Amino acid sequence: MDLFEKLKKNQGPLGQHSHFSEGYYMFPKLEGEISPRMHFQGKEMLTWSLNNYLGLANHPEIRKADADAARDWGMAYPMGARMMSGNTNQHELLEQELADFVKKESVLLLNYGYQGVLSVIDALVDRKDVIVYDAESHACIIDGVRLHMGKRFVYAHNDMANLEKQLERATKLAEQTGGGILVITEGVFGMSGNMGDLKSVVALKKKFNFRLLVDDAHGFGTMGETGAGCGEEQGVQDEIDIYFSTFAKSMASIGAFVAGDKDIMYYLKYNIRSQIFAKSLPMPFVVGARKRLELIRTQPELKDNLWKVVNALQNGLKERGFDIGTTQSPVTPVILKGGLADAVGVIKDLRDNFRIFCSAVIYPVVPKGIILLRLIPTAAHTLEDVEETISAFEAVKGKLFNGVYQNEEKLKQMIEGEA
Ligand SMILES: Cc1ncc(COP(=O)(O)O)c(C=O)c1O
Repeated sequence: MDLFEKLKKNQGPLGQHSHFSEGYYMFPKLEGEISPRMHFQGKEMLTWSLNNYLGLANHPEIRKADADAARDWGMAYPMGARMMSGNTNQHELLEQELADFVKKESVLLLNYGYQGVLSVIDALVDRKDVIVYDAESHACIIDGVRLHMGKRFVYAHNDMANLEKQLERATKLAEQTGGGILVITEGVFGMSGNMGDLKSVVALKKKFNFRLLVDDAHGFGTMGETGAGCGEEQGVQDEIDIYFSTFAKSMASIGAFVAGDKDIMYYLKYNIRSQIFAKSLPMPFVVGARKRLELIRTQPELKDNLWKVVNALQNGLKERGFDIGTTQSPVTPVILKGGLADAVGVIKDLRDNFRIFCSAVIYPVVPKGIILLRLIPTAAHTLEDVEETISAFEAVKGKLFNGVYQNEEKLKQMIEGEA
């Protein structure tokens, strides 16, 4: 069979619905300044799907710092990988400031979060080592684990009894191979909003010899007293051996970092392929990240404002009978019951009639019959935005209950490309 013919015939699990979803359910275009009110297909929408937790994306001081940096440095400098010709004092200053902020000895900058996690995992383990990871881990962890040449064991999400069982298996195996064990979990899980049970994971260090890697993409800036993340929130930052976060969420930029002991960061610096063989972060991202970190450090009201909105939204939803699962973070899932036709109807009604833009997740990401609407509150939202959204959700929930969206025939036509 011709490779390309095969690809064209089987578009993959998401691509198979592209003919009706492209531009609306998938690859939608949100236009205008990044804020809670953006435009979608010409209409203003109250937007709940951006991880701009602290509202920094469009903060005037940030916009100015970004523009100044682009003017002063251009988008190219420095050229080359850091190891060869792309290192600067600014990169090193940012690393030091991040290390101080997350209370780790040392930090290594990464160009992207996804690629960074993948490559950190790849650099940390060899074929003798064993990885044990949470079943609901983000794709970047799963893909990093896929690169691993040795054994891996998955434990049921946040299930400490199961983690212990997997650690017993991993320990036996590592004793045979002479390797070590790396446990990987997340600070905040991006779909459910619940935290990785880091306290219980680190307690297992008394019984087992392993190192812990935590991807805290959603926790950095949002959790913990100073915003240093879920390790700080749970009082176990010191026990996290490798702490990771991206700049793509609270920092509202691009790039990422990994933090830990000096010796290990030094090892990574010379062994992490995604950095050694790739151009370093351009200066505006580095200078811009320093400015963002300064605001996170010096303006705690950003996080306070975020949590005011989070609490109003989550409490309001709960008071009005919505199931928001087990979230412990700003990530706010709203769990409704319905099939694919219902999900399509709910999203369309919310966008076209109520002007609310949020993301929806359906089977196979969540079990069949469940529609998960995910709201991301930010410091830039207002309490009026919260009220408007909860009222809209109540209306939609009522319609869902009455079967208003169950137009299976229309859905079938859409899926088959006739509509
Ligand atoms: C848990 C988690 N890790 C890593 C990433 C990837 O980060 P980046 O967008 O910087 O590639 C994301 C999402 O963006 C994430 O949610």
